[in-house]
Amino acid sequence: MGPGRVVNIPLELRVNGDDVAEFVEPRTSLADFLRDKLQLTGTHLGCEMGVCGACLVLLDGKPVHGCLVLAVQAAGSEVQTIEGLSESGLVADLQSAFHERNALQCGYCTPGMMMTAHRLLETDPDPDRATIRRALSGNYCRCTGYEAIVDAIATTAARRRTEAAQ
Ligand code: FES
Ligand code: FES
Repeated sequence: MGPGRVVNIPLELRVNGDDVAEFVEPRTSLADFLRDKLQLTGTHLGCEMGVCGACLVLLDGKPVHGCLVLAVQAAGSEVQTIEGLSESGLVADLQSAFHERNALQCGYCTPGMMMTAHRLLETDPDPDRATIRRALSGNYCRCTGYEAIVDAIATTAARRRTEAAQ
């Protein structure tokens, strides 16, 4: 092996419920791995510094910045991306509410917003607007001014509570 040659290392994990076995460079971020190796391009990249939240995914159920986590750190774990979350149907109502309220324009922030909103409503089914804004503090949106996003999340929470009470 020549000097400076990077050795790919084996990585096994589960992504959106599927077993995945690949070889990766040790420095590959989880976001790059998902996008480039698995073509899960719903995980967006903005700042690549852990600031904008465009790259949020769930790692063993907890939100993490895919740009800050190395792919090898996810070995043996379960990763959920926006594609898996969408296919699960668990955020169909959130997606509808975003659409109804015009809570997206360019859509670049939307997958990360959706991950955060999903996680928030799982842990707090009745968040007030200030709580929703706080939960979104790590998700940047350059387009909407946030009000419509907060509306969509609050609307979804209210609809879920109504459904649960029936
Ligand atoms: S791309 Fe990861 S936080 Fe911005
Ligand atoms: S809709 Fe464009 S960044 Fe949020």
